[in-house]
Amino acid sequence: MKTYKQIIKEYSALLREVTHIPAKEVEILLLYLLEKNTIWLHLNYEKECSCEVELKKLVQRRATQYPIEYITKQASFYGEMFEVMDGVLIPRPETEILVDKALEVLKDIKSPNVLEIGVGSGIISVMLALLIDEIEIVAVDINDKALELAKRNAIKHQVEDKIRFIKSDLFTNVPDELKFDMVVSNPPYIADDYKLPKNVKYEPSNALFGGEVGDELLKNIIDTTLEKKIKYLLCEMGYDQKKPLNNYINTHYKVQKLEFYKDLEDFDRGFFLKG
Ligand SMILES: C[S@@+](CC[C@H](N)C(=O)[O-])C[C@H]1O[C@@H](n2cnc3c(N)ncnc32)[C@H](O)[C@@H]1O
Repeated sequence: MKTYKQIIKEYSALLREVTHIPAKEVEILLLYLLEKNTIWLHLNYEKECSCEVELKKLVQRRATQYPIEYITKQASFYGEMFEVMDGVLIPRPETEILVDKALEVLKDIKSPNVLEIGVGSGIISVMLALLIDEIEIVAVDINDKALELAKRNAIKHQVEDKIRFIKSDLFTNVPDELKFDMVVSNPPYIADDYKLPKNVKYEPSNALFGGEVGDELLKNIIDTTLEKKIKYLLCEMGYDQKKPLNNYINTHYKVQKLEFYKDLEDFDRGFFLKG
């Protein structure tokens, strides 16, 4: 007979190679399995563990570097919990900066209309809908699973009335008569031949790879946004794409403003453009 405390210690050894918080992750898996919270665990550490077989399966799955968010089916973003699922990109903390940047501009626009390209799990559109009263958003993706998940997250956060979801390859199925103040996007921006670390390989490749060079979709989004005379564009990008995108924009367009921003690790991570 083993206690929860003993089990956590024993199984965390299996996760040492995949995470720097192995014991914490075993606890997360245990609590997910038992549908309990941390306080319950602290009160029951010395009690007999009733679910060792099931826990072992989850820990072994995690030990293959399968993301913990796909096991527990949730992830936190901008202080809120979002449902996640296999086949849709897991939210990344750096994308919170994109939301902050969008808020800075949108707060000064009355009833803003926003188009999000590549909605994924819905984190960006749902957060903007939660934080801006009169906003109307059109959110597109090519991935059916992403659109379904994003809709579920919009419903979970009660903002489904503010977001219209459309299956669309970039702007293709977005009706021409819709007018937007801003396009926001965290598109796939990794070069097709880039060797991904094993944990990221479990995530959908069409959410990650942006073409032979990597910035092809970004350039397409820049071109179309400017052709359609949409005033603002805010995008996440790769740490090595500032120079090529800066050159591209300045060679082809005369824009009012172009600013690049960094993430918390000081890598170039995105840009804001006013057409
Ligand atoms: C990097 S993920 C971002 C997801 C989410 N917005 C986020 O920040 O977590 C890129 C998303 O773009 C979608 N996507 C890829 N190519 C696309 C295209 N041509 N048109 C529309 N969406 C696309 C992918 O399916 C994926 O959901």
